[in-house]
Amino acid sequence: MDTAGKVIKCKAAVAWEVGKPLSIEEVEVAPPKSHEVRVKIIATGICGTDDHVLTGSFPKVNYPVIPGHEGAGIVESVGEGVTCLKPGDKVIPLCLPQCGECSSCLKSNTNCCLKTHLCEPQNLMPDKTSRFTCKGKQIHHFLWISTFSEYTVMPDSTVVKIDDAAPLDKVCLFGCGFSTGYGAALNTAQVMPGSTCAVFGLGGVGLSVVMGCKAARASRIIGIDINKEKFIKAKELGATECLDPQDYKKPIQEVLVEMTGHGVDYAFEVVGCLDTLTAALASCHLGCGVCVMVGVPPLGSQLSFDPMLLFTGRTLKGCFIGGWKMKDSIPQLVSSYMAKKFNSDALITHTLPFSQISEGFSLLHAGKSIRIVLVF
Ligand code: APR
Ligand code: ZN
Ligand code: ZN
Repeated sequence: MDTAGKVIKCKAAVAWEVGKPLSIEEVEVAPPKSHEVRVKIIATGICGTDDHVLTGSFPKVNYPVIPGHEGAGIVESVGEGVTCLKPGDKVIPLCLPQCGECSSCLKSNTNCCLKTHLCEPQNLMPDKTSRFTCKGKQIHHFLWISTFSEYTVMPDSTVVKIDDAAPLDKVCLFGCGFSTGYGAALNTAQVMPGSTCAVFGLGGVGLSVVMGCKAARASRIIGIDINKEKFIKAKELGATECLDPQDYKKPIQEVLVEMTGHGVDYAFEVVGCLDTLTAALASCHLGCGVCVMVGVPPLGSQLSFDPMLLFTGRTLKGCFIGGWKMKDSIPQLVSSYMAKKFNSDALITHTLPFSQISEGFSLLHAGKSIRIVLVF
């Protein structure tokens, strides 16, 4: 392409400092260096985590920064040594790398690559420099992928080629929200056919858990939310019944244990709140129930619960991006989507032009949306 090797000027949403709204700016995007890829983003979802970046509740972010991590796009150019991708390839940037070399990547039972932001800062490219500038200032990357920019540069370990026919304004959700929830049911819990599941929180991620439980042929899927408006879509996507804890005098875990006899086989916390996490654990079947923690806990919080819940045989499991080794799994998820194995499109309540990103965040804050997709 004629832009290869040159600086590209384009629109991006910049968070200049904590607590300030995003501002759309013209930024300069430098060409990719060795083992990097420059991608033209076509569509990007807005995830709660992007909002955490704006409020300063996501750890280890440097400002100014370009957030966004649920995107899909087309490779514009590649740096030296990149063999897995070429210009024109449709791709999904990965918020969790799969370097293929670290001890986690070499194990079959974890997706927590040691290049993840939990282990290594991703605010600059691996060579500790940024590819973004704006008004003469260096702008930081977010999770190495910064999808709130029309062009963005990322390491080749954090991007994967997908089916040429995939609709990018739909499959962008596989970069985070959908994969996180769907994988929590299929990979982390490994829901068994005929089982009973409870899903606490019916936002985009919780609804993806519901879809995963359905795909695993659970016979009972109980959705729990304090916003009854969420029940319609939850039932459409596979929930067999829905409960609002505010309708009961008893704690919701007691209601669930009574409803099911001895508790549910699998409970998923998809709110990001400690109270719902302990309620989910306590609603699990004595001796064998599995509670999966999907929601991101409040920064710096400490968990406290009756250890007898675990002593008596329940399991509490963490789940990071649905347990997927992303480079291996995202193309397969896209193929399953193309084969209509699940309907992740149902999560998209709004598709807006990128210029309306602030309206998108307002919808998110008002609880009126499930997933918002921005298109460039
Ligand atoms: N009990 C049950 N449901 C609750 C409660 C509660 N106490 N409090 C809030 N909820 C519901 C909200 O009404 C909402 O429908 O939880 C849902 C959360 O949905 P979203 O805010 O849309 O969040 P989502 O994008 O689905 O992510 C959920 O997973 O990835 C993480 O950071 C993310 O921690 C967040 C969680
Ligand atoms: Zn790795
Ligand atoms: Zn996300």
